[in-house]
Amino acid sequence: MSQALSSAFSSPSNRHRVWFHDQLAEPMEEQSLLEALTLGLTDSPRWISPKHFYDHRGSELFDRICQQPEYYPTRTEEAILERSVAAIADCVGRDIDLIELGSGASHKIRLLLDALRPHHYVGVDISRDFLLESTQRLANDYPWLSVHALCADFTAPFSLPTLEGDAHPVVFFPGSSIGNFTPREAMELLVRVHDQLPPGGGLLIGVDRIKDRDRLEAAYNDAAGVTRAFNLNLIHRLRDELGAEVSPDDFEHLAFYNEAASRIEMHLVSQRDQTFSLDGQTIALTAGEHIHTENSWKYSREGFEKLAGHAGFQARAHWCDDEGLFDVHYFERPV
Ligand code: AVI
Repeated sequence: MSQALSSAFSSPSNRHRVWFHDQLAEPMEEQSLLEALTLGLTDSPRWISPKHFYDHRGSELFDRICQQPEYYPTRTEEAILERSVAAIADCVGRDIDLIELGSGASHKIRLLLDALRPHHYVGVDISRDFLLESTQRLANDYPWLSVHALCADFTAPFSLPTLEGDAHPVVFFPGSSIGNFTPREAMELLVRVHDQLPPGGGLLIGVDRIKDRDRLEAAYNDAAGVTRAFNLNLIHRLRDELGAEVSPDDFEHLAFYNEAASRIEMHLVSQRDQTFSLDGQTIALTAGEHIHTENSWKYSREGFEKLAGHAGFQARAHWCDDEGLFDVHYFERPV
């Protein structure tokens, strides 16, 4: 494997070891945030990539979104995993390594570990500190498990670490995070995962379904205003980290279902004419102008199976809730 660094994460003696693999050339620094935001904000129409939601505050707000009554995907997927764990274990087989993409707080994997009993667990995330904390907690709570932390941006090419033994790898990609990629990017990611798996390797992936507009729009416009705060966090970052003279009070959150494209769109709408400078460039927004901040694509079961099929995967099994809100698919790279 090609890794920038691979080491055992040093920890106090009462803790269990986490193997740390670093494939990030450099952490996401102020300069790259500045460049990325300047690029999108000087474009037409204006945009900011949703990956910039997730600083410490944004990650906490996202955790709170997942607990909102209107945001059904998290609890629905967890309920599917809980009730189907025995069937999932039968399907993926007994001799596996589990690799979780975007492992974050590593909550959902806990629903699977006792039943799936993998030899190795690899959490893959871009946020180094968050990854180390969550994999360390996992290693302490599951002392029988060999835990690896792979710090990598899986939206770009990355390589899975070589793991001892000959268990077959199963990639776990929950939360419908695949929906935040354009269908073309989603396909490219699926191809990359497929190409890294040996024949018989698996992909267990959670995908939010196309459904009625009211249900979808409510999930991204929760009454408590947490999604609004999450979206406005980008303006906080612009002001607090990049020194732009902007105020969250001058923007409003907008989220709606674009049915023709099967996606939720999130935007920030300027509440007045305003001008600020960023990286030496003047950005002039008119009242009502949008900054496009996120898309969240929704798929039918068949639509997603087709996409994964184009990436080379074979559909092996599928689980969903009684209302048909959310799908958990199991695909294999054909032998
Ligand atoms: C992380 N991702 C799957 C969430 C979604 O539903 O697209 C992000 C999110 N944005 C607003 N609410 C949740």
